[in-house]
Amino acid sequence: MLFSKKRKSFLDNLPIHVGIIMDGNGRWATQRGLPRNVGHKEGVNALYRVVKALKKFGIKYLSVFAFSTENWKRSKEEIDGIFNLVKENINFDSPKFKDEDIKLVTSGDITKFPDELRTSLEETIERTKDKNGFVLNLAVNYGGRMDIVQAVNNLIKQGKKSITEEDIINNLYTKDLPPLDFVIRASGEQRISNFMLYQMAYSELYFPKTLWPDFNEKEIEKCLIEFSKRKRRYGGIK
Ligand code: IPE
Ligand code: IPE
Ligand code: MG
Repeated sequence: MLFSKKRKSFLDNLPIHVGIIMDGNGRWATQRGLPRNVGHKEGVNALYRVVKALKKFGIKYLSVFAFSTENWKRSKEEIDGIFNLVKENINFDSPKFKDEDIKLVTSGDITKFPDELRTSLEETIERTKDKNGFVLNLAVNYGGRMDIVQAVNNLIKQGKKSITEEDIINNLYTKDLPPLDFVIRASGEQRISNFMLYQMAYSELYFPKTLWPDFNEKEIEKCLIEFSKRKRRYGGIK
């Protein structure tokens, strides 16, 4: 019967690994006549809300794009502001994250960061390494092309003369994570901007208009409902 058929819940078809390009912080601030770094600060609050929401819905892995290899083109003031926010908030000492069962990992070349920031990230990674409720992968100084190049360079160092797809996968920064099922880019821009190119070969893509600082549980629910409707065929026929 048409009306008695219970609508399938989006919770029955969830992605395992979600990727988010957290875009629109600058526009969010500019629209309010505020400096861009205020937008980045609000972006951190959005990240807290989104991690909580994803955990609640039963998602296990989240990769977020926080600073790209191209973002070095921005002003020193903006870059320093972003680095300070990462240092102060991603150490999981702050009350919001303190007791959460979250493991922090990073993707990207953090050796290029100021010592204090690098050490703070390394300490949090070490301190949370045995947590298993949720994995937050922070892509910082990350680029999809650079990730593939460093993977191939690793393989050359290992003495490989020819390589397989598995070899590449096992040498990407994300080697301990499953492939990306779902990539969301906030702010309505419809491009990938050098995010996880290899990892998203078969991801579902979604470009909501909402600016990143406005993201919350409701917005995440909308994204997951969208994902639940997608029919993934992987080249086959269903
Ligand atoms: C994304 O927001 C955050 C980073 C790139 C660090 P933007 O700063 O790119 O915000 P818009 O795109 O200028 O609005
Ligand atoms: C992508 O956003 C990088 C991050 C969100 C960290 P950008 O704002 O840097 O990308 P473009 O410049 O619009 O492509
Ligand atoms: Mg942007």
